Formats: sequence, C-alpha cells, structure tokens
Amino acid sequence: MTLKLGVLVSGSGSNLQAILDAIKHDTLDAECRLVVSNKPDAYALTRAREARIPFVALDHKKFAHREAFDRQLVEHLKEAGVECVALAGFMRVLTPLFLESFPNNVVNIHPSLLPAFPGVNAQKQAFDYGVRVTGCTVHFVDNGVDTGPIILQGAVNVEQDDSVENLRDRILKTEHRLFVEGLSLIAQGRVSVKDRRVTIRA
Ligand code: GRF
Repeated sequence: MTLKLGVLVSGSGSNLQAILDAIKHDTLDAECRLVVSNKPDAYALTRAREARIPFVALDHKKFAHREAFDRQLVEHLKEAGVECVALAGFMRVLTPLFLESFPNNVVNIHPSLLPAFPGVNAQKQAFDYGVRVTGCTVHFVDNGVDTGPIILQGAVNVEQDDSVENLRDRILKTEHRLFVEGLSLIAQGRVSVKDRRVTIRA
C-alpha cells in the first residue's frame, strides 16, 4: 500500500531528500503529503519547495508549551491525510498527545547504534568514547528519547584517521539508505511490533 507520509524536519533535510529521491525512483512506495519544520529557516523546506511538496514552517518558539505545538502539528498532518510520520533530523521531543495520534506510526532515524549514545550529537559522543564501531538506528518513537522499538540498524566502522566530521558524513550516508529501507518495509506491510520486539516478515 502506498504509505501516506508526513516528514518532520529541523535542519538540512538530507534524510528528507533521500526519501523524496526514493519515491521519485520508485524504490519507496510512499506519497509525501506534507513536510513540517519547527525551524522556519531550515534548508529542508527549500528541498520540499523544489520537489513541489506541500510544506509548513511551524516555529515552536511561537507556542506557549509543547502540547500546543504538538496539537497544531497533528492538525496539519491529519488535514494532509498523513498516516505515517517520519522524523528526518527533527530535533524536538514529541509529547504523548502527538504519539497517540499516530500509534506505532512515528519513525525516527538516530545516528548511533541505540541504546548507545542517545540524544544530541550522538556521532561525537561515540567518537569521543573511542568506539570502533558505531552507526545508525531506525526505530519507532515511544515516550522516551531514542528508546522506541528498533526496526533496523546499520554499522559504520570508526577508522584510525577519522575526524568527527568525516565519521558524521559516513554515518549520514548509511542513514539515508537505512531510513528508506525501513520506511519501505513499513509500506510493504512487513513490519509488526510486540512489546519491544519488531518482526520483519520475509
Ligand atoms: C542526521 O544525522 C540525523 O540523524 C540527525 O540530524 C542529522 C541531519 O539530518 N537527527 P538531515 O540532514 O537534516 O536529514
């Protein structure tokens, strides 16, 4: 079934671009109904405009509290007919009010092998810790921060001569591939969750 997708962004939107490119090249059976950024100046909105995808800038600073922001966000997404929400570099914690509006249908990409290095700057956390392998995680979003049931993970080796920047770039390339793969599995109806365990049917 064609996934009716909403994509939430905050920054450059390279993960959004990977999703839009996959839809265009028929490697992801989805329709991007709406892009919403909490940062009005996010380059991700330029990418949406150039792809002729409807977009909204919803400045979170204009809302008295998280629930008011989330309520408005849900309204925009529901009006656009969104069924699955992809967090593509979206840097806000969502409230239970939002998650209850899209039960088990909010998917995030995080740039580490969760549960290691949750939160911001995960790439630098891993680099500074001195791990030999890091990577990225596609997971369902629950009420915690980067704690939801894991759908896919991709490993990225840390090389001896690595800097944080080139490690970040290599992880980002894996994010682009893995996020599209995870959303494609959901679109194919092959993903189910029981408690914390995700099953992907062949
Ligand atoms: C990515 O590393 C993503 O995992 C993190 O934000 C970074 C930028 O993502 N959450 P994008 O280029 O805005 O998609």
